[in-house]
Amino acid sequence: MEKLIIQGGKKLKGKVDINGFKNAAVAILPATVLAGDTCVIENLPCISDVNILSQILGNLGATIEKRDVNTLQINTKSIDSCFVDYEMAKDLRASYYFLGAALARFKKARVIYPGGCHIGSRPIDQHIKGFEALGAQVEIEHGIISVEAERLIGAEIYMDVVSVGATINVMMAATMAEGVTIIENAAKEPHVVDVANFLNCMGSKIRGAGTDTIKIQGVDKMKGCQHAVIPDQIEAGTYMIAAAATGGDVIVNNVIPKHLEAVTAKLREMGVKITEEGDALHVVASHPLKNVNIKTLVYPGFPTDLQQPMSSLLTVAKGTGIVTETIFEGRFKHVDELKRMGANMKVEGRVAVVEGVEGLMGAKVAASDLRAGAALVVAGLIAEGETEIENVHYIKRGYDRIYEKLQNLGAEIRKID
Ligand code: EPZ
Repeated sequence: MEKLIIQGGKKLKGKVDINGFKNAAVAILPATVLAGDTCVIENLPCISDVNILSQILGNLGATIEKRDVNTLQINTKSIDSCFVDYEMAKDLRASYYFLGAALARFKKARVIYPGGCHIGSRPIDQHIKGFEALGAQVEIEHGIISVEAERLIGAEIYMDVVSVGATINVMMAATMAEGVTIIENAAKEPHVVDVANFLNCMGSKIRGAGTDTIKIQGVDKMKGCQHAVIPDQIEAGTYMIAAAATGGDVIVNNVIPKHLEAVTAKLREMGVKITEEGDALHVVASHPLKNVNIKTLVYPGFPTDLQQPMSSLLTVAKGTGIVTETIFEGRFKHVDELKRMGANMKVEGRVAVVEGVEGLMGAKVAASDLRAGAALVVAGLIAEGETEIENVHYIKRGYDRIYEKLQNLGAEIRKID
């Protein structure tokens, strides 16, 4: 069992290069099934979710060539059906994207019910609503989701809940439907736009991605293409928060500043100096910082994926901070671990009240999910003494070479088996 050991109290200094966005990559890889041709996907992060998805594509019959550490060449011509079983994808949420892609190409797909981080109930009713609106029959038996359609006919679909996954999945399913599909109340996250750009590069006709109304004109066939994944704004935001948490001076490179506006605004409100330098953000902080209120919202609001790392920063900011998690009802599992490190926090339902303390103390803690793991890394960087973090496999799902990157920034961090 791998563990992370951090000696806290070191200011982070230097430059960190941000990789491609996990949540875009985990949709784009299944989307290559639509091409039935060769796609080259660049700027992929080296994370376990990407490795698992490329294994699944291989198991389905795709031929995959690793062009370089961040580039895969994927030919899905020889895939003729799609069954993603438990062994392949039990820990992976994004396996459900194979449903939309295979339904569009084969009019049939079977995928195990999605796994992923335990941050709430995470239903998939909106995915199912979209598939059924297009004419598919959906069944869930023995933990397997089966979708099948004689024909897929374009439809008007109103999403009851703004859902990134459902928006992307239904968008993929509609690419080769007959006629026009309109998705109303669609998610507007940057990775929804990135996936739409990739689908259009393969020949689909999608307009409006990034707004709450997406229009998809069905096409007969798709083809292979080359696409570079957008930078990971959640990875970038995590390093910005870590820089602020250690009173450091860090250049976060390879970002799209616009995608980080909510995080930048909140950190500035705390007294962190952030300047935009091309496709980099320069973060300079000195303690003490001022506490703030955080409310997670769909894009362009404050991202739920940074609520946990941000909570760690608030534990040592002056005053009281109120954290309201409006997206996932179970996303405060990191709080108990932070309290073991001396944080003064209280959770009532979807709200956590944080009273800033002088400092945190190193302790043995365990990650419960990917971003809780990131929160514990930030807390370990802040804490006096040694912090030992268990369940590091969660962190490796979404952060490419996090220890090396933090070591390069001056953190005293190492991995032990
Ligand atoms: C994606 O999850 C991301 N995961 C999550 O990142 C991210 O937190 C989330 O979007 C929100 O931005 C991937 O992209 C693989 P949603 P997803 O559907 O698609 C409810 C990380 O840390 N909902 O936008 O599952 C749902 O319960 C991960 O990188 C329904 O009710 O999120 C939630 O309350 C964690 N019915 C809200 O919508 C549905 O059919 C938003 O969920 C679908 C969702």
